[in-house]
Amino acid sequence: MNGNVRPDTMERITTKELADKFIAEQIADVRAQVGDKKVLLALSGGVDSSVVAALLIKAIGKQLVCVHVNHGLMRKGESEQVIEVFGKELDANLIYIDATDRFLDLLKDVAEPEKKRKIIGGEFIKVFDEEAAKLEGIDFLAQGTIYPDILESDGVKAHHNVGGLPEDMEMELVEPVKLLYKDEVRVVGSALGLPDEMVYRQPFPGPGLGVRCLGAITRDRLHALREADAILREEFDKCGLAGKVWQYFIAVPDFKSVGVRNDKRYEGWPAIIRAVNTTDAMTATIEEIPYDVLHKITARITAEVEGINRVLLDLTPKPVGTIEWE
Ligand code: XMP
Repeated sequence: MNGNVRPDTMERITTKELADKFIAEQIADVRAQVGDKKVLLALSGGVDSSVVAALLIKAIGKQLVCVHVNHGLMRKGESEQVIEVFGKELDANLIYIDATDRFLDLLKDVAEPEKKRKIIGGEFIKVFDEEAAKLEGIDFLAQGTIYPDILESDGVKAHHNVGGLPEDMEMELVEPVKLLYKDEVRVVGSALGLPDEMVYRQPFPGPGLGVRCLGAITRDRLHALREADAILREEFDKCGLAGKVWQYFIAVPDFKSVGVRNDKRYEGWPAIIRAVNTTDAMTATIEEIPYDVLHKITARITAEVEGINRVLLDLTPKPVGTIEWE
């Protein structure tokens, strides 16, 4: 039997009971597969790798070694959350690598979107590889592969898999959620006790804020983007849009316009709001954000974020605009 095909008889996991049953089965399978050996996992903090981490911690505890690479392009508070939830609450064997300088130095003056993606993806593998080489006696590599990854592994989305790991790593794979759809992964994550903000978080591209800090990334503009994005998320949380909108974020282009602040000329970048709904990310429609919410967000971003002097709204559906700007 091909282990990569979901059997027709497999029930969709929609309840805590079904999730608990799945978890118990996977724990037994993983223990049988791994024995007393060690397993390595690249833990990005995204839904899939987080659920795999929580599941494996339950199954094999400290035999799991999680590596979290902070490429400096995470959203505000994300790496901190990984450390808090996995390092502290779940007491995982977690190696945290702050590789911000490595990534940002390499990305300096690189404006071409595809080149940026390639640098980020390539460097990620390098950092992870270096870390893996330092560890001894690791025989298995765990991955947060989910069923759509298997169904879509036709090359169309190859560029999406920034966390894709080197093929020459000679480790056997452990992929406990590979037959699950995204909604099932979330149900399993909740049953494992992961916080909602981790399990129900919106999709976030592997290259992170790197594809939203448009053109050549600078540290000051990246900082402004991260702060503005945090304000957008906070306001969407407060007004209930967070649970309703599929994906929402800020992009900051690399040009300035003239503004005025405290009676003085104030040149700054625009922050562009994008909020879209979709089911499969192949097409997307625009969420109609109430004007009072937009005014509030604009007031906060222009007052609180150094370097931003305008807030714009992207009204373009996909097609013709892609969801991300790069
Ligand atoms: P686009 O911009 O192609 O995005 O309309 C469709 C969906 O894919 C996400 N996306 C990525 N996800 N690595 C990822 O893991 C990537 O390089 C990447 N690029 C885009 C995007 O956020 C949207 O949800």
